Amino acid sequence: MSITILKGTVISAPALGKLEVVEHGFLVAEDGRVSGVFPVLPDRFAGAPVEDFGDALILQSLADLHLHAPQYPILGFGMDLPLLDWLNTYTFPNEARFADLEYAREIYRQLARELIENGTTRVCMFSSLHRQATLILMEELERAGVTGYVGKVNMDRNGIPALQETTGESMSETLLWLEACQDFRYVKPILTPRFTPSCTNELMEFLGKLGMERNLPVQSHLSENEKEIQWVKELHPDCTQYWETYAKYGLWNDRTLMAHCVWSDRRERQAMKDAGVTVVHCADSNQNLCSGTAPVRVMLDEGLQVALGSDMAGGAQLNLFDVTAAAIRASKARRIQDGWETGFLTVAEGWYLGTSAGAAFFGAEPGFSPGNSLHALVLDDHSLPGPLTPAERLERCLYRRQKQPILAVWSEGRKVFEVK
Ligand code: GUN
Ligand code: FE
Repeated sequence: MSITILKGTVISAPALGKLEVVEHGFLVAEDGRVSGVFPVLPDRFAGAPVEDFGDALILQSLADLHLHAPQYPILGFGMDLPLLDWLNTYTFPNEARFADLEYAREIYRQLARELIENGTTRVCMFSSLHRQATLILMEELERAGVTGYVGKVNMDRNGIPALQETTGESMSETLLWLEACQDFRYVKPILTPRFTPSCTNELMEFLGKLGMERNLPVQSHLSENEKEIQWVKELHPDCTQYWETYAKYGLWNDRTLMAHCVWSDRRERQAMKDAGVTVVHCADSNQNLCSGTAPVRVMLDEGLQVALGSDMAGGAQLNLFDVTAAAIRASKARRIQDGWETGFLTVAEGWYLGTSAGAAFFGAEPGFSPGNSLHALVLDDHSLPGPLTPAERLERCLYRRQKQPILAVWSEGRKVFEVK
């Protein structure tokens, strides 16, 4: 039996809006699974080695439930365009470069490392349409200690010549990819129709059947931008709303992630709630691409499942601390717009979305619940003035980026990063 004992000020998010704090506490994991958080080390662990981080914060690591790996090279520029123009001008030509496997290896190795250094240990990620580059991405994530789902993107229409498959290619490459990725331990496949305008009905039908037959999760985009929504209406005149274009092919269930949902009205939101679809709120991206401001507070009040995504490179921040702060700010923008009786996201709620809510998609219970596999980080904020309460310290870390504050990271029970 291997025992991990971390000592510090342990903060976790056991429920939406709630922070649990154990100052100078012990976070214990046995064989990579959390046993509990204790103010005093129980006798049964006496004699086991303790990693003492003093007064540093010990937190859950973060979950980024929507990002595009091949957009890493275009992170942070080219955003003076709305979604559809941005896709054609920047995104598609750059994703096309991932036909080059050496390039893919170099970029994906760097990306995986940067995710871990920023405390992101769980992801749901889009690759490009390239099967081999997708396998390289999965290898590099696994090597670095990032866990979660990766999807080979399906797109058989409305791409550019350098970035589009035929329907037949998209199907056969998807099957080959699924076969080739069976041996990964921590990184699993997720079906990834890019969005309705990128996929013919024939391809959508194939993916829906495949998902049901093999019990695979699904990720895509929904109601991000008004022009996109209008386009989907033209492509599917039989559907009243965007979500129906996924639902009619069986791509709509409790293992489905839908990014953005900025313009989803009450009916579309109800359809997500009824099916158990998770909304991935990508506030930084939505602002950068002038997509709009998703009503995240309303979604939570209505009982939808909501997690956070960087949407790199629509989002310019890979660091989920920044993404969480952006989500909080977006909720306040809605409050300014919709009226002061409207609620917003508190810091504790934002932190829950970035950690426990994302982890729930992978079957984890909220916070450091016993039985969860250990996903944790150590955050050192001693370079900033104090004294503050632990909750205030967490808030300041969300809003104020410091230089290299993350000292160590655990993912699926394994230490995957440490500042030496
Ligand atoms: N919709 C279809 N593809 C994309 C993409 O790459 N990024 C974003 N933000 N939206 C999309
Ligand atoms: Fe996206």
